Amino acid sequence: MQITLNNPLDMHLHLREGDLLKAVLPFSATPFSAAVVMPNLNTPLSTPALALEYQEQIAALAPHFKPLVALYLNDQLNKASLQEAKDKGLFLLKLYPKNATTNSAQGVRDILSPRMLEILEIAENLGFILCVHAESAGFVLEREFEFHPTIHTLAKTFKNLKIILEHMSDKRSIALLEQYPNLYATLTLHHLALNLDALAGGTLAPHLFCKPLLKTPKDQQALLELALKAHAKVSFGSDSAPHLVGSKHACSCAAGVFSAPLLLSGLCTLFDKHNALEHLQNFVSTNAMRIYGLKDLPQKSITLERKPPNLPNSILNGQLIIPHFMPLEWRIKSH
Ligand code: NCD
Ligand code: ZN
Repeated sequence: MQITLNNPLDMHLHLREGDLLKAVLPFSATPFSAAVVMPNLNTPLSTPALALEYQEQIAALAPHFKPLVALYLNDQLNKASLQEAKDKGLFLLKLYPKNATTNSAQGVRDILSPRMLEILEIAENLGFILCVHAESAGFVLEREFEFHPTIHTLAKTFKNLKIILEHMSDKRSIALLEQYPNLYATLTLHHLALNLDALAGGTLAPHLFCKPLLKTPKDQQALLELALKAHAKVSFGSDSAPHLVGSKHACSCAAGVFSAPLLLSGLCTLFDKHNALEHLQNFVSTNAMRIYGLKDLPQKSITLERKPPNLPNSILNGQLIIPHFMPLEWRIKSH
């Protein structure tokens, strides 16, 4: 049994820098045609020049893969810099609330401040898409829900701004998608395949610790239903976020699941298990093409077969663990 996916897209990906970038990039650049690449590097990609330089660096390392680097939203952006970004092909802005996650110390302190609203209005007029890490600073399991008032305000104030609620994790967020025509979401593999038990129900699993936190079985089920029918307002965004063992196995464990090596095998396994393989193409590509208005992507046809893959447990001499967090019954067919 086989399935062929055309132009798979990962609409939320962390590729990091230096040796880590070189080590993780092939897992995404080989099977995926394009990916939205997040700007939360050690030095955030807060200017068009920084974002473009990083985009070019990735493109040079992976010629048949289109990196779509998001610009890190900050209050130093203005009409001229946003216009420059747009002219040079950047079209995504990433909103990190200050201190919400990895490398967000330079994130936005007050999203609804007059300055930010001015920047967002410029972004709306220039046709940017706003990707949002939608979490408050409150109790960890309620953060996405507590962020809803901000989403309501943004969606109502900027009706022509496409807003993406990244890595949707809480079933109570689904109603927002129905309410606002300009609101969309990405869904990760780990939030579809796992719930909080996988992280903390037995021995603690640091490689499954991420922001937003995995939630209840009911949340997982509700998100999975959206994905399995490829709801028109969701696209796949893995949020694959590698951290070296040293920052995972320490007194303080960095947030992020390195899922890139498992993604297409995991998605096929999950969709097959629920008899939904016919909707996988929409979930992993067609929806995103439409929502983000993508064209001119490197053409890729990826065939998977129903056989267990053979994935390593780690790379980089054991420094980067690959968490085998779900059974994998499909593998990418080699040519
Ligand atoms: C991401 C990272 O490490 O960059 N971590 C995570 O837990 N998802 C950042 C993010 O998307 O929140
Ligand atoms: Zn992320």
